[in-house]
Amino acid sequence: MPLANKPAEAARPAARSSAGRVRHLAIIMDGNGRWAERRGLPRVEGHRAGIEALRRVVEAAPGLGIEVLTVYAFSTENWRRPKAEVDALMGLLVEFLHAETPALKAQGVRIQAIGDLAGLPPQPRAALAWAMAETREQKRLVLNLALNYGGRSEIVRAARKLAREVAAGRLDPEAIDEDRFAAALDTAGLPEPDLLIRASGEERLSNFLLWQCAYTEFWLTSTLWPDFDRSDLEMALDAYANRQRRYGGLG
Ligand code: FPP
Repeated sequence: MPLANKPAEAARPAARSSAGRVRHLAIIMDGNGRWAERRGLPRVEGHRAGIEALRRVVEAAPGLGIEVLTVYAFSTENWRRPKAEVDALMGLLVEFLHAETPALKAQGVRIQAIGDLAGLPPQPRAALAWAMAETREQKRLVLNLALNYGGRSEIVRAARKLAREVAAGRLDPEAIDEDRFAAALDTAGLPEPDLLIRASGEERLSNFLLWQCAYTEFWLTSTLWPDFDRSDLEMALDAYANRQRRYGGLG
């Protein structure tokens, strides 16, 4: 998959029709560590700058037609990082939720989360529960935080949920189809992502939204996440508007 070529993409005319509109945008916010290291800063400063980039995207998203923004904030694999970095990330999450929830609420943003939330430490879990309750009524944008999230773990948890229903005699195994399975996932009720952006030049899915991305379009950029801004977002959406989605058919 080629990386997005900034000048060529930038030269394209904006072609954002309603048919080419991204309702659900998913982002892998990668490159925070490298951004900090290049500046001789501790990695945590890269994550802090990453939160600023997230704030820019959240502010721009509703005006660009986006209804759901799912961001990979902490994966099931991120526990393998040094404890100091894990603690810093959890601390930033709590700080972000406490500091930003009132402003997000004022912007009409509803905070939701996917992932194995029971596996989060008590403080981030409590901050998240508060932020979700506080913004429950907001309708302009869903900011969906993937926390302690892994696509395989989500699929296994969904399978277990359905298996329990079968074992209790409440579900016929033959009634399990794709819709029923999708309804057991953390993303139940949300549309599938139309577009997935990955920052920092990496070209992989890293266990993000494995089921949901079956037909999602990808846009890869070498821009490190803390440098990502509205112009990058517009470039990605314009590129998407020029794609033809065929879902395995002939279009
Ligand atoms: C990847 O960069 C990023 C993460 C593991 C976490 C993303 C988190 C944030 C943007 C901030 C926290 C989010 C919220 C909502 C509070 P990396 O560290 O893997 O970068 P590298 O590949 O350059 O080392």
